[in-house]
Amino acid sequence: METLVEARGLVKNFKRKDGTEVQAVKGVNLDIQKGEIFSLLGPNGAGKTTTISMISGLLTPTSGDARIGGFSITKQPMEAKRLMGVVPQEIALYPTLSARQNLNFFGRMYGMGGAELNKRIDEVLDLIDLKDRQKDKVDTFSGGMKRRVNIGVGLLHRPQLIYMDEPTVGIDPQNRRRILDTVLRLRDEYKMTVLYTTHLMEESQELSDRVGIIDHGEIIAMGTVGELIQQVGEEDQLVLKIGEQTIDTSLIERIPKEIQGVTRAAFEPPGETGDQTSGEVIVYAKRGRKALPHLIQIANEAALEIMSVEVREPDLEAVFLHMTGRALRD
Ligand SMILES: Nc1ncnc2c1ncn2[C@@H]1O[C@H](COP(=O)(O)OP(=O)(O)OP(=O)(O)O)[C@@H](O)[C@H]1O
Ligand SMILES: [Mg+2]
Repeated sequence: METLVEARGLVKNFKRKDGTEVQAVKGVNLDIQKGEIFSLLGPNGAGKTTTISMISGLLTPTSGDARIGGFSITKQPMEAKRLMGVVPQEIALYPTLSARQNLNFFGRMYGMGGAELNKRIDEVLDLIDLKDRQKDKVDTFSGGMKRRVNIGVGLLHRPQLIYMDEPTVGIDPQNRRRILDTVLRLRDEYKMTVLYTTHLMEESQELSDRVGIIDHGEIIAMGTVGELIQQVGEEDQLVLKIGEQTIDTSLIERIPKEIQGVTRAAFEPPGETGDQTSGEVIVYAKRGRKALPHLIQIANEAALEIMSVEVREPDLEAVFLHMTGRALRD
């Protein structure tokens, strides 16, 4: 595999208005391989935008550097920037121009023109799925459509790498789906490399070949979704809700002994946590779905009244919780 983005020791300090300094990014190392979708997952204020801004040459690092295709972003910014397209978090378009006119304007800014630019605009409009609305003014567009035009702008000069900073924030589900599909197409059809930031673990989990989890300016875990989940233990949780019944501890003790793959089981009586009104049998198993029929059989034999069954598979949320002690959603 070939490394396309190589960030080493990136640090960014900001001066606050009161004169104090904040370290927004605290020594980030990052390797992004050619042809992969890499997502930077982290809560608000984690340092995602600051990191992207440094590796795209928008912000000068306090220290450290990044190489894009071997070119230093601080010492060879022109060469490095030619390889990348950037879709910023804030939408920057001319509202009174049409989608096509916006693309034309930004294409000229990139030094493109003539028939080549026209052809590229057609390709990009197809990619962002806005061919039929190309002549309409951007200020008549929904937020999601504007965001798609923004993505188009980032793609005009045929970069091999694109940075997208939280492109689905505030976007309706339909447009969000289209954006995610476009990201996948960029990798699969156009063989592009994508750096995608998000605070949504579902997006990160669906899109990423590899994920870097960022928190308080530091990358606290990096790898494929599978690798990250493995790091925190890859057990599923089976949760049987059993109403207000209480149960015999010997039944709970039998479960790991009798069901293959189950490592432990626990019982939480009603009212144990928060506003939980139902007792829960919680069973941990490597392959939760496989253990489920046997578990239900045992529950039936014990005459438990099962109100619901849930299989909770480990996810990046669990990884974040494990690493930080906090939920990603907070
Ligand atoms: N220009 C600035 N001046 C001072 N502090 C800043 C500046 N830009 C960012 N920060 C601070 O740096 C930290 C990281 O901000 P950053 O915008 O990189 O986070 P983020 O992960 O992109 O968050 P979000 O999900 O909200 O976009 C935050 O604490 C933020 O307040
Ligand atoms: Mg941001």
